[in-house]
Amino acid sequence: MSAVPLVVFNNGHTCPVIGLGTWKSKPGEVTQAVKDAIDIGYRHIDCAHIYGNEKEVGEALKAKFDEGVVKRRLDQLATPLSRISSLYVPTEGLGAYPKADIFVTSKLWCTSHRPDLVEAAVKTSLADLGLDYLDLYLIHWPQAYKEGEDNFPVDEQGKAIPSAVDYVDTWKAMEGLVDKGLVKSIGISNFNKKQIDRVVEAARIKPAVNQIEVHPYLNQEKLFEHCKSLGIVVTAYSPLGSPDRPWAKPGDPTLMEDERLKVVAAKHNKTVAQVLIRYAIERGMIVIPKSVTRSRIEQNFQVFDFQLSADELQAVAALECNGRLCSMGDVHHPDYPFHDEF
Ligand SMILES: NC(=O)c1ccc[n+]([C@@H]2O[C@H](COP(=O)([O-])OP(=O)(O)OC[C@H]3O[C@@H](n4cnc5c(N)ncnc54)[C@H](OP(=O)(O)O)[C@@H]3O)[C@@H](O)[C@H]2O)c1
Repeated sequence: MSAVPLVVFNNGHTCPVIGLGTWKSKPGEVTQAVKDAIDIGYRHIDCAHIYGNEKEVGEALKAKFDEGVVKRRLDQLATPLSRISSLYVPTEGLGAYPKADIFVTSKLWCTSHRPDLVEAAVKTSLADLGLDYLDLYLIHWPQAYKEGEDNFPVDEQGKAIPSAVDYVDTWKAMEGLVDKGLVKSIGISNFNKKQIDRVVEAARIKPAVNQIEVHPYLNQEKLFEHCKSLGIVVTAYSPLGSPDRPWAKPGDPTLMEDERLKVVAAKHNKTVAQVLIRYAIERGMIVIPKSVTRSRIEQNFQVFDFQLSADELQAVAALECNGRLCSMGDVHHPDYPFHDEF
């Protein structure tokens, strides 16, 4: 059994605090990366239909199932291995906590928000990944796009073409996936405070997770506190500053090169990447660094043998500069999430 601490969702399901990200992992590289990650001890893989590589992730999962390294089963834990925060512990009476042997997340793309398209979308991801249920399925972005084959439909001026679907109606279709046993938990991603509140108000099943960009240049303190107050776990994406994001420009600040972080890393004899991962975990978040390089996948997992002091955590938090890296650029879309304060 992998010794990675678990977070307990508001529905009693548990999730390993570290997972492997797979955005930008090329089909030719991702199968090996996922196999390496599982061999190293990762038990959580973050996927999405839009990443265009779920079939190749599925090949790795199948190989590891066939080898008997991981099984598609839920064990029952009387108590989780580690409680990150009492906020995440469900109410009394839920019984034992289900623990997945391998926890797999996928995400609903923006062209499939219309409620009648949601089930087909999850079934496509399930078929590609070779699974009969997902541990977690997220609405990838609050913005709905015009339905159809084109994943990024734009008008003549290059602006995203919205669909009139309300993400609250999409949420109701997501709840139906839980009822049908196609997914164990559901959540959201890139939703701002107002959007979260609208979903929570209408929800029969509360979101378990909001997956958002978090790193020292965008520490998301307010949104994190808001999610915690609602019992919603935050997953930190782009924790290393996403240096391979397609729109990175020469001269952009590089988080992993920040001298102030290098000082902290040197003190612990760790790398900046490990400090960044630890920063998210110590705040009580799930964190999903991406790599296709075995040595880095391994390094990113070696974060359970040191701790940042309160002063160090404060110093890292002070690097906040509203340095958002992922915004999709849909500023004209009615549901673009990043106009609001948080
Ligand atoms: N929900 C959303 O909208 C959303 C948006 C963005 C990301 N995500 C998820 O979050 C995951 C992580 O975010 P991300 O991919 O944007 O970026 P990230 O994890 O912050 O950074 C990945 C980059 O860092 C490099 N790297 C990894 N470990 C390293 C280490 N120890 N030392 C030096 N470099 C290292 C990787 O290189 P190599 O791969 O070449 O080793 C890759 O270039 C994604 O893959 C995806 O699963 C979700």
